[in-house]
Amino acid sequence: MGYVKETFRAKADEQVKEIKSLLEQHGNKSLGEVTIAQAYQGMRGIPGLITETSLLDSNEGIRFRGFSIPELRQKLPKAEGGKEPLPEGLFYLMLIGEVPTQEDVDHISATWARRSHVPNHVFDVIESLPISTHPMTQFCVAVLALQTESKFAKAYTEGISKKQHWDYVYEDTMTLIARLPRIAAYIYRRKYKNGDHIQPDGMLDWSANFAHMMGFNNDSFKELMRLYLTIHADHEGGNVSAHATHLVGSALSDPYLSFAAGMTGLAGPLHGLANQEVIRWIEEMCAELNTQQPSKEQIAEYIKKTLAEGKVVPGYGHAVLRKTDPRFTAQMEFAKTHCPEDPIVQTVWNVYEVAPPILENTGKIKNPWPNVDAHSGALLKHYGLVEEDFYTVLFGVSRALGVLASLCWDRALGFPLERPKSMTTEWIKEFVAKETVA
Ligand SMILES: CC(C)(COP(=O)(O)OP(=O)(O)OC[C@H]1O[C@@H](n2cnc3c(N)ncnc32)[C@H](O)[C@@H]1OP(=O)(O)O)[C@@H](O)C(=O)NCCC(=O)NCCS
Repeated sequence: MGYVKETFRAKADEQVKEIKSLLEQHGNKSLGEVTIAQAYQGMRGIPGLITETSLLDSNEGIRFRGFSIPELRQKLPKAEGGKEPLPEGLFYLMLIGEVPTQEDVDHISATWARRSHVPNHVFDVIESLPISTHPMTQFCVAVLALQTESKFAKAYTEGISKKQHWDYVYEDTMTLIARLPRIAAYIYRRKYKNGDHIQPDGMLDWSANFAHMMGFNNDSFKELMRLYLTIHADHEGGNVSAHATHLVGSALSDPYLSFAAGMTGLAGPLHGLANQEVIRWIEEMCAELNTQQPSKEQIAEYIKKTLAEGKVVPGYGHAVLRKTDPRFTAQMEFAKTHCPEDPIVQTVWNVYEVAPPILENTGKIKNPWPNVDAHSGALLKHYGLVEEDFYTVLFGVSRALGVLASLCWDRALGFPLERPKSMTTEWIKEFVAKETVA
């Protein structure tokens, strides 16, 4: 067993004991009440899930095992000569709960490089889809095709004890994460670069190799990929991609099946697809106004027009956050260092100045501040990754780190099948009638 796996097992054993004692002593304590409105309105704010990898504060934003994004940028190991954190380090932090050393991160990089070979049938399955297929659909299909490799599914069929589940889920997690950049880059080169594929370079870290296979060898783009793949990895457990992965995993579907469920959720416009919507919205605005750089007044008018047409301003608002997303701020800081003069980047900053008060004035939008998606597209465009349909795939490769680290925890802690109670409106009406009489 590798030492990261052993450390994980030891941490999980301690946690199992702690949870057992918590449940014995406090299992009956209430975490809060559930209102009828919450049941109808997307279960917002209902505490009902345990996710160990990260926790979201509505004002402060995400913390991974207690560390904010600015802290991660400072504390996590970097590539040689680089300034941005390596996502391998974030994965270690989410899995083990401790900041990794350079050696830990190098170990994970090497493990993923070693396991990155994708079997040919996966490429054949991708090739069987029409080229026009959305990259996220190609990605989901490829992940499902890769399920033939699941060690968990095989072991489960052969018969294993519940105590061994985590072991096979861990192995599948490491192999799946290792292979995702190759699959994603293959889809990118197939769809946008005439199928002119680039072989992996086993000497590079996970992000740099991904950049290389997509065809980007600029050092500053590799740094962007390290930052991007770090900040998109996790956002606690209730968001659609994390919750879907966890839910499907609770049926003991293997990591490939569970992650594919998360990815079909990430492909939705209210979740991961918003980053492509943002850049389209900016480009449509520029086209309509016939300028590369609209003024703040023009942007304000365009936002009002978008709202008047009953459309959302993409990249703004959040189900939980109530302040500027620190993932937006991290990208803004990156852009200030690497590409402050870029006209699309400047437009993103101008939207940030004018949009919040306009959105706030509608009186209904709970969070008028930008989320992670408001900035990412502008940075990618700057470096020439202009195919915005592909952006959600990048998000998906990153999201694997969080949701699969969580899935390892789910199985190590022996979490059961998830099965919340649902009601009919008829039931609610009867309930209300009884409550009113009482
Ligand atoms: C993220 C999002 C789905 C959260 O939804 P939510 O929790 O229901 O948000 P709210 O409670 O603030 O929504 C209240 C109202 O404001 C609207 N609203 C929220 N964000 C809005 C935005 N950016 N532009 C216009 N209207 C918005 C909602 O559509 C809703 O309108 P309705 O009552 O007519 O249905 C929503 O803010 C959104 O659609 N944003 C744009 C897409 C986006 O950036 N998604 C990426 C999320 S990381």
